[in-house]
Amino acid sequence: MEDRIVILTGAGLSAESGLGTFRDEGGLWTKYDLAEVATPEGFAADPHKVHDFYNARRRNCLEAAPNPAHHALARLQQARPESVSLVTQNVDDLLERAGAADVIHMHGSLTRAKCAACAASWDQRSDMDPAAACPACAAPATRPDIVWFGEYPYHMEAIWDLLRAADLFVAIGTSGQVYPAAAFVQDAARAGARTLELNLEDSDTSRDFHETRRGPASRLVPAWVAEALGG
Ligand code: OAD
Repeated sequence: MEDRIVILTGAGLSAESGLGTFRDEGGLWTKYDLAEVATPEGFAADPHKVHDFYNARRRNCLEAAPNPAHHALARLQQARPESVSLVTQNVDDLLERAGAADVIHMHGSLTRAKCAACAASWDQRSDMDPAAACPACAAPATRPDIVWFGEYPYHMEAIWDLLRAADLFVAIGTSGQVYPAAAFVQDAARAGARTLELNLEDSDTSRDFHETRRGPASRLVPAWVAEALGG
């Protein structure tokens, strides 16, 4: 088994838990206008609309349960905590609820709020209201702690360090359409890692991987984890 494994997950990991993906048929970005609900400009124009969107997603997330793919990744990380890193584009907490620790949330978290005035952030699992006072500066400027289009993802230096040191990079359930995550396969390969994609169908970056496997995450991920732990 390769020493250092970096795993990138996307919406496909949580699809079988009942959380919609973004770009598949019926996906969130086919029903909602991304510019209205996932940009700083959209929030400035209509904060209530943005909160309605994320409040609904948060409620869905809290009602959902981890699926076998989340449990398998948590098992792998618990078995190899020093050498397995979990990086996710997902804003749900299903990996944590499956038992994973130190998940790197590059696009933020549904269950955290942030002050748009002073950038303080805090845990909040209940509905959010843009007029709620910030616990640090009291400004009525509560927003979800989600990285929107036009904003810089979290933890990028740490992620690039992990990719540079990786022996194996695995992408699970992501369409490869959003940067910088879409470039991780090339970053990792350039640094000498083997690369593996586990996805329901071809992604925009499938051709960049050394190996691709097709199928639902709930089947592919436990099978790959069993291989990785047995090897
Ligand atoms: P997408 O919706 O773009 O892609 C989901 C991918 O998962 C597709 O390639 C599907 O084929 C695959 N898929 C669907 N169901 C699956 C299943 N059961 N098992 C395995 N694969 C499955 O989602 P992401 O790539 O995660 O950003 O999107 C990236 C970012 O775009 C998100 O983090 C979000 C979005 O705008 C923010 O919200 C900041």
